[in-house]
Amino acid sequence: MKTKKIAVLQGDYIGPEIMSAGLEVLEAARQGTDFEYQIHKYNFGGEAIDKCGEPLPQSTIEGCKSSDAILLSAIGGPKWDKASVRPEAGLLTIRNELGLFANIRPTKINPILARKSPIKEEVIQNTDFVIVRELTSGIYFGTPRKKDEHEAIDTSSYTVEEIERIMHIGFEMSMHRKKHVTVVDKANVLATSKLWREVAQKMSNEYPQVEVDYCYVDAAAMKIITQPSSFDVVITANLFGDILSDEASVLTGSLGTIPSMSTGVNGPSLYEPIHGSAPDIAGKGIADPISMIQSIEMMLRESFAEYEIADRIARAVEQTIETGIVTPDLGGKATTKEVIEQIIENLRG
Ligand code: NAD
Ligand code: IPM
Ligand code: MN
Repeated sequence: MKTKKIAVLQGDYIGPEIMSAGLEVLEAARQGTDFEYQIHKYNFGGEAIDKCGEPLPQSTIEGCKSSDAILLSAIGGPKWDKASVRPEAGLLTIRNELGLFANIRPTKINPILARKSPIKEEVIQNTDFVIVRELTSGIYFGTPRKKDEHEAIDTSSYTVEEIERIMHIGFEMSMHRKKHVTVVDKANVLATSKLWREVAQKMSNEYPQVEVDYCYVDAAAMKIITQPSSFDVVITANLFGDILSDEASVLTGSLGTIPSMSTGVNGPSLYEPIHGSAPDIAGKGIADPISMIQSIEMMLRESFAEYEIADRIARAVEQTIETGIVTPDLGGKATTKEVIEQIIENLRG
């Protein structure tokens, strides 16, 4: 089997902590299998600003393009908040450069973690949905865009093609799930949302088996908390998906547990936690590594079809949660290192 090249962008603040934890788990899990990989680290985000003067050096773009998959932890933080080009700009550019227009963010309730959720157990049980977030257009990228001392402008724009391709991903995904799509928009106000709905209505004719409903984003924000098990595949625009996915993470008990995949037409997919660099807990050794580990698990399934290794990682994480060895975000007392050690012990056991 060909050795896989994995580009690693370890990022800022807790980024390197959770990345090295995730890579330790990957190495332990692949032992005894014929899965071979090589790690290539590239500068990215704030640390790249410090070393190279920019958040996304050309060498990083090229290294990522020539890889089989990309692992990213998290970038940004107060150190660079006043930089002329912030780390976050590098994140937006890499998504765009690699054509990663679809961002898949799952929310699945682990019965053990359900007890840690601030939402009542009976409300969240059976919750299992994915947010399919459009990632390379909308208000994040539209022009004109400007800011001076008198005025600031952002532009939200979507073409039919951009909407069609993200809808297609969501509808196809629903065919392998509960065949239920919820299109989340603000079609009572926004022109872009009206176009989303028109495109979705046309596409739903091509998928007669799929039940489609439409929900305004404000109501969706409420329903995610009150009736989370009513969703299967949520398809939504860039900014709405960003906000709703952090909200949805509350159901699982912590933002520190949610992975994601960003994918496009060709080229490598990128796997990253949905959270940021958590500057408030960086350096304390208590960052939850589960989001990174589950991002690696997603990579093994989606980019490498290594289902057996991915399943073993999933079980080892579950067993660790069951034994109560979890970080403070999940109400535990364990350090990142203790969580990793337990996961690796479970993998070996
Ligand atoms: P954040 O997601 O970093 O943190 C929000 C809260 O969640 C904090 O209290 C943090 O401690 C907690 N948290 C997040 N991940 C955790 C983990 N693995 N374990 C335990 N607790 C965890 O959001 P923020 O504070 O608003 O942003 C910090 C920086 O990260 C900003 O510069 C932001 O732009 C950037 N950011 C980057 C990404 C990315 O790299 N993809 C995503 C979101 C935010
Ligand atoms: C995310 C982040 C990014 C986004 C920021 C850091 C640019 O919040 O990945 O969810 O808004 O997409
Ligand atoms: Mn976000």
